[in-house]
Amino acid sequence: MAILEFKDVSYTHNEKNILENISIEIDLGDFISIVGHSGSGKSTFLKLCSDLITPTDGYIKYKDKYFSDYDPIELRKNIAYCFQTPYLFGDTVMDNISFAYSIRGKKIDLDRVNKLFSMFNLNEDYLEKEVLNLSGGEKQRIALIRSLLFNPEVLLLDEVTSALDVDNTLVVESVINSLNEKGTTILWVTHNIEQSRKYANKVLTIDTGKIKSLEVIA
Ligand SMILES: Nc1ncnc2c1ncn2[C@@H]1O[C@H](COP(=O)(O)OP(=O)(O)O)[C@@H](O)[C@H]1O
Ligand SMILES: [Mg+2]
Repeated sequence: MAILEFKDVSYTHNEKNILENISIEIDLGDFISIVGHSGSGKSTFLKLCSDLITPTDGYIKYKDKYFSDYDPIELRKNIAYCFQTPYLFGDTVMDNISFAYSIRGKKIDLDRVNKLFSMFNLNEDYLEKEVLNLSGGEKQRIALIRSLLFNPEVLLLDEVTSALDVDNTLVVESVINSLNEKGTTILWVTHNIEQSRKYANKVLTIDTGKIKSLEVIA
């Protein structure tokens, strides 16, 4: 079953065609690596997938229903986007985690939070750390944790290991792979060719705003 479907999607900004005629079906449980030159439209594609921007032409469906027929909050709950440049707000790491719960009217689940922190090689002390003092790699992992708190069905990752050392890159790859094995659909933009083929079942290549190929990995 297609969990996401793009049909003839184009996205134009300031009269510039950023994406043109994108048609693709993403199946439930897919792990798709997205590659392509810088500026080819990969991040724009993920922003469309997460309803952060709206197609200029064509349509996108989630589970056979048009994006436009969903409550945007419901879509955002199911489709989580982890940005290329992690943005953390407030003063402490805790501010970022607790906000995710409070906007949903929920009490923080510290067991779940601690479990996620340890999965990503971060100890509990990080919760009290100041955002300003974190390294790029720490921010990336905390932004990733924040997007995983509520078990999204589709996880969109935009070059999320770019600031990580080798060991932590392996940790993140392995956590994402195990989420995929438990059923989360993954779309992962990476410029690392080795990473793109490690766990993915498909590799999508975007070239100057168009789909160049969708390769199925045996
Ligand atoms: N908000 C924007 N305003 C103007 N141009 C944009 C905007 N977002 C993206 N672009 C342009 O769209 C193209 C695709 O960008 P992007 O999707 O970020 O590419 P990639 O992630 O593959 O590097 C680039 O030429 C970029 O300059
Ligand atoms: Mg990008």
